[in-house]
Amino acid sequence: MDPISKINELKEKIINEIKDVKDSLSLKAIQEKHLSKKSELNQMMSLIRELSGEAKANFGQSMNNAKKELAEIFSKKEKELNDIEIAKKLEKEKIDISLPGVNYKMGGINPFYLIIDEITDIFTSMGYEVKEGPDVETDYFNFERMNIPQNHPAREMQDSFYITDSVLLRTHTSPAQAHAMDEAKGEPIKIICPGKCFRRDDDDATHSHQFGQVEGLVIDKNINFGNLKATLELFLRKMFGEKREVRFRGSYFPFTEPSVEVDISCMECHGKGCPICKGTGFIEILGAGMVHPHVLEMAGYDPEVYSGFAFGIGIERVAMLRYGIDDIRKIYQGDVRFIEQFVRK
Ligand code: FA5
Repeated sequence: MDPISKINELKEKIINEIKDVKDSLSLKAIQEKHLSKKSELNQMMSLIRELSGEAKANFGQSMNNAKKELAEIFSKKEKELNDIEIAKKLEKEKIDISLPGVNYKMGGINPFYLIIDEITDIFTSMGYEVKEGPDVETDYFNFERMNIPQNHPAREMQDSFYITDSVLLRTHTSPAQAHAMDEAKGEPIKIICPGKCFRRDDDDATHSHQFGQVEGLVIDKNINFGNLKATLELFLRKMFGEKREVRFRGSYFPFTEPSVEVDISCMECHGKGCPICKGTGFIEILGAGMVHPHVLEMAGYDPEVYSGFAFGIGIERVAMLRYGIDDIRKIYQGDVRFIEQFVRK
């Protein structure tokens, strides 16, 4: 048989093999077998040595044509098999959209934590650092360092749960001020400290024996009452909007001088007076004031050089006013129907 016929015969044999292939993997194997360097077809190239002149050229031409034709047939078959395989795969993975879906129920977040996050966002945007203090305190930090010595009448207002005579569940977050001052060792301070507090208060619509506060403390040179008022006003506007009525009242705390308390118009009666606000039309949310010189001195700050302001915001009261919660106890009862209503924006 002449060399060109040999090429054509082999080509036909390969084409027939390709026709019978049923999947792309087998096709790849056949392609490798017939088109690789060591394939029968390529080895036929050695026959060229026996030819000369026109016959040599014709042989070369036939070999190239055969290879080209085979490459085209392989690629056509490859596409054909791929299409079939994809169609089969899609058929297998078909989703029945008429089936009922799995319903994942979203939980809520207790408003106590939502409010902590919101207050934290507001103050960190003003450059405050967030600190934490212990829930269990010593009498020394909870009272003495807050300028409330033994037998001071202010202790009456903050009766607590005692673990020993000198260790108690903290009645306010203010002792965090003393810890922060000790840590700062005479340097300026700008912190907030969110946390839990405990008092032997009788539970009612606005009081709980366990509640939360966010303490704030700023100490530096030239801090004045105007700074305190501007800071609180900014906070209150961000938290309650422009329209809510806000009231600053002169007050007394042993650890601040002068002192104020801030009230917000009641969410239930909007200032008219109702049982929730005990007829006053307002609900108190925070206490604040300029840090008492003696508190500064106890922490090693010279009150002639340094001054500061502090505040303690009641977390549940803010939540009540913000979300229209008519009873503080709902925040602690763990009723899922109540909690579910609160989602992070
Ligand atoms: C204090 O606890 C001061 N330590 C606040 C302070 C800090 C003043 C820094 C000056 C400088 P008072 O007892 O008023 O203050 O409590 C502050 C806030 O905590 C109240 O306005 C109220 O929002 C909340 N609060 C107090 N007691 C309760 C309670 N039993 N239940 C719920 N919230 C309460």
